[in-house]
Formats: sequence, structure tokens, C-alpha cells
Amino acid sequence: MPNRVVVGAQWGDEAKGKIVDCLAESAAMVVRYSGGSNAGHTVMVGEEKFKFFLMPAGILHPHVTCVLADGAVVDPGVLAEEIRDLKRRGIDVSRLRISANAHVIMPYHRLLDELEESRKGEGRLGTTGRGVGPAYVDKAARTGIRVGELIDSNRFRVRITHAINEKNRILSRLYDAPPLNLDEVLAECEEQAKDIRPFVTHTAPLVAEAAASEPGVLFEGAQGTLLDIDHGTYPFVTSSHPVAGGACIGTGVGPTAIHQVIGVSKAYTTRVGAGVFPTEQCNEIGDHIRERGAEYGTTTGRPRRCGWLDTVILRYSAMVNGLSSLALNHLDVLSGLDEVKIAVAYRIDGAETSFLPGDLSNCNEIEPVYETLPGWDEEIGQCESLASLPRNARRYVERVEQLAGIPIFSVSVGPVRDQTIFLQK
Ligand code: GDP
Ligand code: IMO
Ligand code: MG
Repeated sequence: MPNRVVVGAQWGDEAKGKIVDCLAESAAMVVRYSGGSNAGHTVMVGEEKFKFFLMPAGILHPHVTCVLADGAVVDPGVLAEEIRDLKRRGIDVSRLRISANAHVIMPYHRLLDELEESRKGEGRLGTTGRGVGPAYVDKAARTGIRVGELIDSNRFRVRITHAINEKNRILSRLYDAPPLNLDEVLAECEEQAKDIRPFVTHTAPLVAEAAASEPGVLFEGAQGTLLDIDHGTYPFVTSSHPVAGGACIGTGVGPTAIHQVIGVSKAYTTRVGAGVFPTEQCNEIGDHIRERGAEYGTTTGRPRRCGWLDTVILRYSAMVNGLSSLALNHLDVLSGLDEVKIAVAYRIDGAETSFLPGDLSNCNEIEPVYETLPGWDEEIGQCESLASLPRNARRYVERVEQLAGIPIFSVSVGPVRDQTIFLQK
């Protein structure tokens, strides 16, 4: 298998988890390269549902080594709970490796995430509240605590004492919030450190070695291209690099090690949190998608904003990720609509463009230009090939491929592993 990146091509929740689970079968290693417990990746095996926040979605395959790499931020409490839950369900987690260089999400990061969102009021980003942004702030400020320090009691004691002093000043002076108790935080962290210590190592050499051997590495993206801090819809983005290039930065492998980049998209668009969303449908179409697609956040339970597929975004995604192919998910959700629409361009302040503008936040009015196709009524959850799809559903897939300019890798017709039609593998 080539070394592949699976990357969200939209605003996250494109069902990357499902695609990673399917492809992990033919990989030696699955590596989460960015983000933290803001991610929620769902895998359905028959009736059984697994939700992964930090654990790479390859863990259900007994032969796969799973790596939480340098570029991720780790909430040890969340990860420890995932490890316990998987063990209870009979899954062997001894194949997990956590980078000593990954930064730790501390209790004060979660607190600051919430306080900052409240302070922003109407202007809030709608973060997941998992402390991810503040953890990356400390990383960039070079004051963050890394996993290697968390599991080293003596070093940790020094670092946490200093950090709590500093954060307590911020909490009281900036937010008028009560201070944190050093001993309590220390005790909580030491407990969590115990749970994750056996898995911690220097992961870059492991990833490099697996990437240089057969059957290769699958890099699991979190979030989505439009949430990238540089290439997304800033400032309504996350604090990391979900794009395919993040797989190199976040793991320590060079760009020449990557052979294939699979973009993952829904057959429509969703977004959680605030920010521009040109094809959003605040009407019965949006409701149809939300209800049929169960579009409620895996991590926060928030209703997702829903709208038509946007190929302006997919073309942009193809460009910034260098997409080789596209996994098109959730086609089943569009069943039952008289007609389906695809955005092919935008009309911005009167002028039409088929490219995503550099700064969407600076556009006063974005009106999508749609192409309308006939819908289909049939349920398609049982379809096992493109040929067995209703004619109009097939036509929709073909048109998406043409408009996005990316070859289709797979089409998904339901949440379960088997409900995936692979055109390439
Ligand atoms: P991720 O964050 O990109 O891994 O995506 P999420 O797990 O947050 O959200 C995707 C949701 O859609 C999950 O609940 C999946 O079980 C579900 N899902 C995946 N593929 C399909 C599909 O083809 N059709 C439907 N209806 N649901 C799907
Ligand atoms: P997966 O991996 C969808 C969004 C949040 C918010 C913005 C910033 O499951 O696709 P953050 O907590 O990261 O500071 O929030 O990013 N967001 C996601 N949206 N899927 C995700 O992950 C997301 N992770 C963050 O809703 O708009
Ligand atoms: Mg998700």
C-alpha cells in the first residue's frame, strides 16, 4: 500500500473515521498527525459504534500500530478514558504509541477555552471547548508542557508549578475567575500520567521506518481543510494544520514519503461552529439533511449546520492538499429529495468566480451559483456497486467528479463499514 493521507476536504466531520477504518486493513500503521480531542471520529462495525477522540481510528485492526504523533495535542484524561473503554470492549490497545513531543492539554486550557468563548459573546468561534486552542497557544509561545514532561514526575512538578502561577494571574486579572489549586491539578495529572506512561515514546523514527516499508502508513487527518489555521476560513478555524501537509509537520516524515492524498467529503456540506458557509440551507432542505444524516456533533452533540455540496470548496481543497482522489460519503442522506443542487461558483459583490477568494471574511455577500440535478427516492444503503445505484444518484456522483476535478475513490451509502463502494483501493 502507498503511504496515504486521509484528509477532511470540508469543515470536518466528513466521516474520515469510517474511511480510515476501511483502509487500515491494508496498512501497518495509522497516525493521527494534528488536532486534539476536538475531533470525534465515528466507526460503525455492524451494530457496534466506536467514537474516537484521540485514539487513531485504526485501533480496531489487530495488526495495526496506532500513533498519536508530535503535531497532536493530548488531553491525557480523555485518552485514558478511551483506552479504558476500548479495553472493556475487548480491544487490544498495546499497539498505541504516543509521541513524547506532543503537547498536553491541561485543565487550565479547557477553562481558558470556555472563558475566552464567553468573553467573546456574540463573536464567539463556537469551539468544541476541549482546550485545543489554548494548548496550541502555549505551544507557539514555547511555554507548553509536553507528554514527555508529563510522565516525568520531577520535571513535571517544576513545570506545572510555574504554569499554574502564570495561568492563575491570567484567570484572575483577565477573566476575574477563581484560581486553580496547584495540588489538585498535580494530583489529577499524576493519575493520568500513570495511565498513558506505558505508551509514550519518540514516534518519528517509528513512523519513518513504517513509511519506508510495506504495507505502509495511513495518516489520519482530523478536522478539515477549511478549518486549517492558514488555509481555512480564518478566524473561524481550529488552531492546527488539518491539511495534508500537516501530516509531514505533525509526524516528522518528509513530503517525498507521501504517495497519495485522499480527500474526504460528504455528498453535501456541514459545519459546526460559527463562520461563513455559503451553501447553508436554513430551511427544510437543511432539516432533511440534519435528520436523515443524524447531523449532530460526535464531540459536543451540537446540531450541525447543513447545506448543499460546494465544489468551489472541493476544488480549493484539491489544490491546497494535492488531492489524488475523493471519498464521497453520505450519498444515502440525499435520497428523497425532488432535486439536488451543487454549487459550481460564487457571485461575490456582483461578480462571478469559480475560485475560493483568499479572504472570505472580507466578502460582504456570497451568493452560490447552483447547478440543479434531478433527485432520487430510492433508499441506497444496500447498493454494493455504482451500477446498482439509481440512475440519478449515479449521475450526481459523476457530476461531482467532473465539477470537483478529482477522481472518485469511494462512495459511501451508510455509516457501517460494509456500506462503502470502492472504485479504487
Ligand atoms: P469524522 O470526524 O470525519 O470522522 O466524522 P464523524 O464521525 O464526526 O461524523 C460522520 C458521521 O456520519 C458518523 O456518525 C458516521 O457514523 C456517519 N456516517 C459515515 N458514513 C456515512 C454514510 O455514508 N451515510 C450516513 N448516513 N452516515 C455516515
Ligand atoms: P473532526 O476531526 C468539525 C470546529 C469547531 C469550531 C472550530 C474551532 O471530528 O472532523 P476548536 O475546538 O478546534 O478550537 O474549535 O473548529 N471543529 C470541528 N468541526 N469537526 C471537527 O473535528 C472539529 N474540530 C474542531 O466546531 O468551529
Ligand atoms: Mg467528527
